[in-house]
Amino acid sequence: MHPLLARQLKKYCPDGRAADLDGLSAAVDAAYASFESDRSLIEHSLETMSSELGQRNRELAKQLQEKQRVMDQLSSINTELLDLNHKLETAQTQLLQADKMASIGQLAAGVAHEINNPVAFVHSNIGTLEMYLKQIFQIADAYIAQEQFLPAEVVRQLNELRDKLEYDYIVGDMADLMKESKDGLERVKKIVQELKDFSRVDQSEWDLLDITDGINSTLSLVRHELQSRADIVCELSALPPIECVLSQLNQVFMNLLINAAHAIKQHGTITIRTGMQGDDHVWVSIGDTGEGIPPENLSRIFDAFFTTKPVGKGTGLGLSLSYGIIKRHHGRIDVSSQMGSGTTFTITLPVQQPPANAAESDALKNAANQS
Ligand SMILES: Nc1ncnc2c1ncn2[C@@H]1O[C@H](COP(=O)(O)OP(=O)(O)OP(=O)(O)O)[C@@H](O)[C@H]1O
Ligand SMILES: [Mg+2]
Repeated sequence: MHPLLARQLKKYCPDGRAADLDGLSAAVDAAYASFESDRSLIEHSLETMSSELGQRNRELAKQLQEKQRVMDQLSSINTELLDLNHKLETAQTQLLQADKMASIGQLAAGVAHEINNPVAFVHSNIGTLEMYLKQIFQIADAYIAQEQFLPAEVVRQLNELRDKLEYDYIVGDMADLMKESKDGLERVKKIVQELKDFSRVDQSEWDLLDITDGINSTLSLVRHELQSRADIVCELSALPPIECVLSQLNQVFMNLLINAAHAIKQHGTITIRTGMQGDDHVWVSIGDTGEGIPPENLSRIFDAFFTTKPVGKGTGLGLSLSYGIIKRHHGRIDVSSQMGSGTTFTITLPVQQPPANAAESDALKNAANQS
């Protein structure tokens, strides 16, 4: 029994009998009335609380919406920042590329220019010297022919001097010396020409050129470095001239050839092949029998600054620069590699560049001028 009812019963019905029924009903009635009033009070409070809760709920939902909006904004700012960062990295790579290529090209062109003049005059002087020597020998021969008219003692002394100075040997050796010197100079002239071809000082614009010349001039520059590690096999097909900036393609060939040599630890083979794909594309492949590229690195080798070489040995820019150059030529560069067997890079280039839009054409010109 409810303690309140027990108390009323005790008050109005002592001894268990209804002594004051009216008093009891009045008390119970009052209790009901008070209960009703409490209930309606509680209901009212509940209603107020529920409406306050609803209001708070709506406010929270609004705040949540606002937070979501801010989060969306932040995430879009983040994406923009990542994009900007990527653009910055690309710009930095391109600057470094321009810098690296400009310095290699300028160095090659500068050396070629500096050597060209002295080589030209030494070459011309050697020709004159050879002529003078022939004339001197002619004079000496004429004197020798007149020996019979000289006193015997003088002839003896002259012969003694001739033997002592090994005149006959000098006459024979002089011709060989002159020939060797001329051959040596021809070789220097060839190297200078190759340096010029490599840097293509006279070509900074797009031109129709045969990439075989580029491969050969690049090879002649790095052949010495490659030969210490590898046999070089060339299987070059006849190719049509293609629209390109050959000095830039030479940089790509050089990067790939040097990478190939670096990948060979003992002694191996570097194979250079060229060919046509259809009649509108040419391809060049540079393969090595080096250590190969681990599969997990394959997707990263074209990233700027990715290198597995020790600090100071590699900057990790060679392939990313090469990728950029090939992309500007609307070509592609593919790689296949087998750990322990070697790696082959294949470049495919269009014979003719697609018509460029104005912005692209400016970018190409700038890139070409920077190199
Ligand atoms: N032929 C190859 N065989 C094996 N690994 C290669 C070969 N070519 C490239 N790689 C890997 O790709 C990485 C990146 O090459 P990349 O030419 O971009 O930079 P690098 O040679 O390290 O430095 P550098 O800027 O001096 O060229 C190399 O460090 C090497 O790990
Ligand atoms: Mg490299």
